[in-house]
Amino acid sequence: MSAMKLRADRERLLAWYRAAARDLPWRRTRDAYAIWISEAMLQQTRVEAVVDYWTRFLARFPDVRALAAAGEDEVLAAWSGLGYYRRARALRAAAQAIVERHAGRFPDELEAARALPGVGPYTAGAVLSIAYDRPAALVDGNVVRVFARWLGCELEHAAATRWAWERAQELVPEHGAGEWNQALMELGATVCTPREPRCDSCPLRERCIARCSARQAELPRPKPRRAPLDVELEVLLVERGGELLLERRPPSGRMAGLWQLPTRQVSPEPELADLFPPRYALASLAAHGEPLASLRHAITHHRIVLTLRAARAPREKQLEPLAWVPRERLGEFALSGMARKALRAVREAQK
Ligand code: ADE
Repeated sequence: MSAMKLRADRERLLAWYRAAARDLPWRRTRDAYAIWISEAMLQQTRVEAVVDYWTRFLARFPDVRALAAAGEDEVLAAWSGLGYYRRARALRAAAQAIVERHAGRFPDELEAARALPGVGPYTAGAVLSIAYDRPAALVDGNVVRVFARWLGCELEHAAATRWAWERAQELVPEHGAGEWNQALMELGATVCTPREPRCDSCPLRERCIARCSARQAELPRPKPRRAPLDVELEVLLVERGGELLLERRPPSGRMAGLWQLPTRQVSPEPELADLFPPRYALASLAAHGEPLASLRHAITHHRIVLTLRAARAPREKQLEPLAWVPRERLGEFALSGMARKALRAVREAQK
């Protein structure tokens, strides 16, 4: 595409963004900390869901120093439900590094930002461009899709992502990078969607290579999918007075340190799956009665069917990694997404 046409398209996209940008709370601030938190949350969750989490998280941890001083369990509890808890741990560790190395201010240099725990090229580009108006590029899934369709990229997923980073570096403006980056992401999120893009409303429609060749459905080429693993679980509801028995996951690995209802893997053989290793065969808990509910849950490559059953309290004194938790204190615990879903089903069943 000629430089002139490219410039015209860019102006169209920016004009569209100025008119169509969603009014989101983190777009009303230039506070790098607040923007950083929003970008960390947005990497894994849809905008609509993030608004509430972000608002609560900022009320609880209003600045870098508050986050750095918080306990890990407190941060995990505030993050609970967003998933990818390693990110929440990294966020707290990064806040501590910012206090120690940068006097509590999120760094405005790419290299220093990238050196923080959990801050990758996307997050660094987002915070630097949006909060500090630095000419930093960024690429997320939306940006890959917009570039691949608009400029016509036939490469497979990993190569298309590298290609998109090169385009992002070339196109990012010296001034107004934050607006440009957000315009690209906004177009990908609201118009240039994976399925059934709204090309009629797109500011790039006239020169978009995918649209001009009717290949919106083929570009970008999809990420190769790993076959999902079917997992069957038995999840136990163990009650004693107003208390519920919870199980804490191991301190490392997937969903590290989160709380769940006591869980047994029924199939495949527990040894064959990494999510619910056999140390969680809670031999002393005997399920009884009819199942309370049957639920489906998906975690990355696992397609889970879980059967929720009541079980009797164990007699042992030594309960680790189990703990009795009063129902009204459940909110203080960082529960796994699956545990939240199971507890909602219990409440429904007991209505
Ligand atoms: N997705 C992630 N961050 C975003 C932002 N700042 N604007 C639009 N979409 C986004």
